[in-house]
Amino acid sequence: MTSSPDHWWRDAVIYQVYVRSFADSDGDGVGDLPGITSRLPYLRDLGVDALWVTPFYTSPQKDHGYDVADYQDVDPLFGSLADADALLARAHELGLRVIVDLVPNHTSDEHVWFRAALASAPGSPERARYLFREGRGKDGSEPPNNWESVFGGAAWTRVPDGEWYLHLFDSTQPDLDWRNPEVGDMFEGVLRFWLARGADGFRVDVAHGLFKEESLRDQVITASGKASSGHVNPDHSMVKRELSDEPMWDQPEVHDVYRRWHKVLDEVGADRMAVAEAWTQTPESMAAFVRPDELDQAFNFSWLLTGWSADGFREVITGTLAAVGPVGASPTWVLSNHDVVRHATRYGGGPQGLARARAATLTMLALPGSSYLYQGEELGLEQADVAHELRQDPAWLRRREGIDDPGRDGCRVPIPWSGTQPPFGFGPGKGQPWIPQPADWAALTVEAQTGVECSTLEFYRAALAARRTFAGTAGDEVEIIGEDHDVLTFRRGPVTVVVNCGTAPVQLPAGEVFAASGELPGGVLPPDTAIWLR
Ligand code: NOJ
Repeated sequence: MTSSPDHWWRDAVIYQVYVRSFADSDGDGVGDLPGITSRLPYLRDLGVDALWVTPFYTSPQKDHGYDVADYQDVDPLFGSLADADALLARAHELGLRVIVDLVPNHTSDEHVWFRAALASAPGSPERARYLFREGRGKDGSEPPNNWESVFGGAAWTRVPDGEWYLHLFDSTQPDLDWRNPEVGDMFEGVLRFWLARGADGFRVDVAHGLFKEESLRDQVITASGKASSGHVNPDHSMVKRELSDEPMWDQPEVHDVYRRWHKVLDEVGADRMAVAEAWTQTPESMAAFVRPDELDQAFNFSWLLTGWSADGFREVITGTLAAVGPVGASPTWVLSNHDVVRHATRYGGGPQGLARARAATLTMLALPGSSYLYQGEELGLEQADVAHELRQDPAWLRRREGIDDPGRDGCRVPIPWSGTQPPFGFGPGKGQPWIPQPADWAALTVEAQTGVECSTLEFYRAALAARRTFAGTAGDEVEIIGEDHDVLTFRRGPVTVVVNCGTAPVQLPAGEVFAASGELPGGVLPPDTAIWLR
């Protein structure tokens, strides 16, 4: 079945919940499923359509849940299967859909399959579910090839009998061998398990990585950093490494997996979806993941890689629409997530960074397709500065210790809900949660911003409400107006969007302003501000 204009995700606003940092129900300082359930009315009132919940499955938490030991159970840290059912049921009652995370590229080293692989001999069927190989060099003491982990260091670890196993991420995240049919069958079971429990969709982790070129040839660009994608944070390992043309990414066989999943989703109901996390080389290769018989959406990371610039934003918008249009998929837009520096900080931080972040958000929300929001951006949170000794991000720990790298902990700090000191209503516990909140977040809590007209939270609420008045009916056409280097202007249906990325105020075009990212003193559009007119 092809994507229909009626599919709910085509114009949805989807809110990403990072489980351990959203809401803590039991006071252990770590967010959990009952915590999320208790805060669902907040999300409904914010005006989003769906939430994507990051992995809450049984896991040793070496990569905070992206290392799954049991795909069909809930980690006790986050609750139980009954809590997952309760979350899904309550969300549906409130009219919210729920997307769960699926991690098919690798398991945890504590998964029963990997334990069995370690306990079995080289060449055994147990080892054949992963990528075990002999080493190179004398005595096989060198890794089978030169691949480097996205998180830094070699992508191979040697086991006591001398074989090596592949892990594109942490050594506790062994890569599965998708050429082994058992792997595909296992994941079909996982899909069906969560669909039967009521999941409305899946976010597919490392969707471009499941298959490795059969030869396992050496990679061309190594982590020593010759690749430069020219984006705002070129040192971010996740971004830099996965954009290069390498034998471990974006292999053609991966598309058969998504054709199979498409059928499974369709069998269960036309309202179930999947969105790919795929760092591909070009908009065209991204579009391949969302062909009519594959996944429904793919995250479009191009905005996240673009600095504050009218020309840059124009390029992102036109490039994205040109890529997904021909395959009939709906575009997606992302400004922040749990892997990158928050956009208020990327745009310079402080009042200017926040003004720009709000303007970019308002621009994004006017566009056709889905907008993915990351928890806390509606509060104007910036990347928190986490002391090196408190960092937990395996990517930072593997490679970055001692280096001035922001890492991913600073965008994962628990949400401030209320009160004047940590944990700011995050949970009933006393003091700091699993990773400390900045002491000066008191003015940023949900409580402090609610009802305050110009607060970032009320701005998001107003923008999402305004979006609802036209997004469903405005169509997919975007008309870019002009080529001004400082000001981006476009029209979508009845709405004209103007964003001032320059340094001087500009005249407001004719029309009624019905959403603005900041104040409009004296009837002009100040720098770092966006408006919607009709
Ligand atoms: C992408 C996820 O977003 C990230 O958090 C994780 O570390 C890697 N995939 C590995 O699963």
